[in-house]
Amino acid sequence: MIMLDQVVGPHFPCVFILHRENLMAKTQFELNQPLRTVLFVDEVSSLDAIQQLFSDDSSMRLLVASSGEEALEIIRKEDVWLVVSENHLPGISGIELLERVRHIMPTAGRILMTAHAVLKTLVDAINISEAFRFIIKPWDSDELKSLVQEGLERSEVVRELAHCEEDAISSIAQAIELKDPYTRGHCDRVAEYASTLAERIGLPKERIVYLRYGGWLHDCGKIGVPGSVLNFPGRLDETGMKFIRKHPLWGAELARQAGLHSGVINMILYHHEKYDGTGYPYGLKGEEITLEARILSIADVFDCLGTRRPYRAACTSDQIREIMREMSEAFFDPHLMEQFQNIAEEVLDEDVQRAATHRKGLIR
Ligand SMILES: [Fe+2]
Ligand SMILES: [Fe+2]
Repeated sequence: MIMLDQVVGPHFPCVFILHRENLMAKTQFELNQPLRTVLFVDEVSSLDAIQQLFSDDSSMRLLVASSGEEALEIIRKEDVWLVVSENHLPGISGIELLERVRHIMPTAGRILMTAHAVLKTLVDAINISEAFRFIIKPWDSDELKSLVQEGLERSEVVRELAHCEEDAISSIAQAIELKDPYTRGHCDRVAEYASTLAERIGLPKERIVYLRYGGWLHDCGKIGVPGSVLNFPGRLDETGMKFIRKHPLWGAELARQAGLHSGVINMILYHHEKYDGTGYPYGLKGEEITLEARILSIADVFDCLGTRRPYRAACTSDQIREIMREMSEAFFDPHLMEQFQNIAEEVLDEDVQRAATHRKGLIR
């Protein structure tokens, strides 16, 4: 199996396996809530093996088609979350099919399977169909199962984001933080600090609304980073860091697929860029980084320092002051940093007071 991208996450309960022959009888299974539906497209013998493989899976509804045309018919009628297609099909190819799915149902995840892994197929899968994974046959059963679950989770996030309701965005941020318990509450606080800074520099109200969304969602690409990497209790090796450095790209892609405002997409994409050009993913410098992303990166680092991480304890107020001062020379926009000083002091003072009150309570 070749990874074009990686998404991991929990399973969701839902019990529906449909066989091709009783597809027409589907209505008897219909419920009020949306079902996590996967459509497999392949030759009949492979579909039988797939149905067998997922027969005891209680987390999804499975639909099958043996040609691209048949698959498109299903796509037009059904709310499909994920399409897994063989490339060599009678009629249109798997890549063509997935490309059409991209237009008809952009929120559906797309995975291409093939027994013939030639470079052109791989490149077309990425560039034309925008498939997020590529599976080489014969597949490994466990990997295929976990890949399908990952695709469903990714699709779930895209679907939620597409509604773009404040509450939905905030709850997605919370779901992402569940994967990374050390950052619980982090996105909320980042949104808060960032919008406070934006107000102080006089950013228009409508841009502050998007900044808040960006704060909530800036780390949504972490949904693609394995929990074992996020919660690794020590310094990460190069492979682990590669995953971490991808999260702005993955997050921006999720936001793009969900049709979010370009300002929000850019905040997610650039929140780890640094003013001196040493950040990631692109190494942008100074004002090449959007203003909102420069604001977010200050709020993000400030909050991270005060949070316990698997690889270090939370910094003290004095340490936070010192690190922020050191970093402000190279990493942050100096004008924004000047404005942020007061906000940082207010937050740190509040924390010290809260700790003192807590201590008093303990002594009593
Ligand atoms: Fe991040
Ligand atoms: Fe963050």
